Amino acid sequence: VALYDTVNPFSEDTAFYLALAAEQPGSAVIDVGCGTGALACALARRGHRVTGVDPSLAMLDRARHRLDGASVEWIHGGADQLLDVGADLALMTGHVAQVIGDDAEWLRTLVGVHGALRDGGRLAFECRNPDGQPWQAWTPERSRRQVDDDAVGAVDVWAEVVDVQAGRVRFEYHNRIVATGEELISLNELRFRTEQELTMQLHDVGFRLDGVFGDWDLRPVDPQSPELIFVATRR
Ligand SMILES: C[S@@+](CC[C@H](N)C(=O)[O-])C[C@H]1O[C@@H](n2cnc3c(N)ncnc32)[C@H](O)[C@@H]1O
Repeated sequence: VALYDTVNPFSEDTAFYLALAAEQPGSAVIDVGCGTGALACALARRGHRVTGVDPSLAMLDRARHRLDGASVEWIHGGADQLLDVGADLALMTGHVAQVIGDDAEWLRTLVGVHGALRDGGRLAFECRNPDGQPWQAWTPERSRRQVDDDAVGAVDVWAEVVDVQAGRVRFEYHNRIVATGEELISLNELRFRTEQELTMQLHDVGFRLDGVFGDWDLRPVDPQSPELIFVATRR
């Protein structure tokens, strides 16, 4: 948790979601799986009314203690905790949709988000595109990079796949603090759902699909696209 923001800094995805929210100045935005709260706070600074929801107390604690953490309403739990929010926009960023591996929980999340939006409110999220098999690059050799953390200095980070099964990839994420040699390893599982699966689920829950994009420059999806970026409207 302490290294999360260093390893996952703002990037093109953040710009995309901030621009989407900016289409409606002052709008009410829900950040589902808000993590350490960087995006939620950035939205609040831009004048949005923001609710951040996450089941991880460690992540939420980090979020609450950000410099402008008091400007966001933080909720502990999943999207089913979002009652009568009437939001204009719901976001799920940083591949939260893939972290929610259990299919029943994923559907409950979509239903919860749908219920928390006003009619005409929008949902946007991204998943990595399974067609490109991005996990092939999650080897120590291909994924190793170094990041610089304010608190502990240089950190070597890399991913290593443990297991690939239909639609699920388990991998270790290694963080080695160069100065001390200390290594922190997290074991993660990501669910890879197809564009067709996600499109059907959104429709079944009551969303109209506005678009699916293959990358942050909004190009269409093709088999090599890194992402499946969904934007949908509550019917
Ligand atoms: C990879 S982090 C992404 C955090 C943040 N959205 C970002 O862009 O940096 C995934 C987050 O999803 C949260 N999460 C896991 N299961 C969830 C669920 N069922 N509903 C909402 N969030 C969930 C985790 O606690 C974690 O904070």
